[in-house]
Amino acid sequence: MGDAPALFAHASHPDVGPRAGWPAHTSLEESRRSITDVLSGPDTYAITLGGGPIGCVALHEGEVPELGYWVAAPYWGRGIATEAAAALVEHTDYPLIVASHAEGNVGSQRVLLKLGFRFTHTGEKWLAPLGVSRPSRFYTLSR
Ligand SMILES: CC(C)(COP(=O)(O)OP(=O)(O)OC[C@H]1O[C@@H](n2cnc3c(N)ncnc32)[C@H](O)[C@@H]1OP(=O)(O)O)[C@@H](O)C(=O)NCCC(=O)NCCS
Repeated sequence: MGDAPALFAHASHPDVGPRAGWPAHTSLEESRRSITDVLSGPDTYAITLGGGPIGCVALHEGEVPELGYWVAAPYWGRGIATEAAAALVEHTDYPLIVASHAEGNVGSQRVLLKLGFRFTHTGEKWLAPLGVSRPSRFYTLSR
């Protein structure tokens, strides 16, 4: 809970959450709630730098685990998402992992390709927290 103010500072940025499928946080209370309800889930990790949280990487439960990640905007372009996601993938032994990104999210596309994900198809992805579906590109990574 001590990380809630830092989480709020990063997760309230308009270019972070919506690209990952969730609305930007609008209050400290919302960040606290996301720590208890979302970020404490299984296979869900903070990305930290200098002791503070600057992002998240997770494998979401489902028929096949789905990789998700975000990094706070001031830290983009330093290889952080790739390093964190690679560490999580290596730490687990799932035979297959899926991932996707919205059309045009070139940064996320680069992360998946650098990790060795293979493009499979395009399609609409329903994003429940945003209440919209979006044209997306889908990928798999096989062990
Ligand atoms: C996508 C995101 C996680 C990338 O994090 P990051 O730490 O900057 O990622 P990395 O530095 O490991 O890699 C980013 C790559 O994308 C490239 N990139 C980023 N934006 C780009 C753009 N607009 N055009 C072309 N390349 C771009 C970078 O150059 C880098 O590639 P390179 O190593 O070949 O040079 C981060 O931008 C983010 O959190 N965005 C908002 C949330 C989000 O989109 N999450 C993913 C949802 S699917």
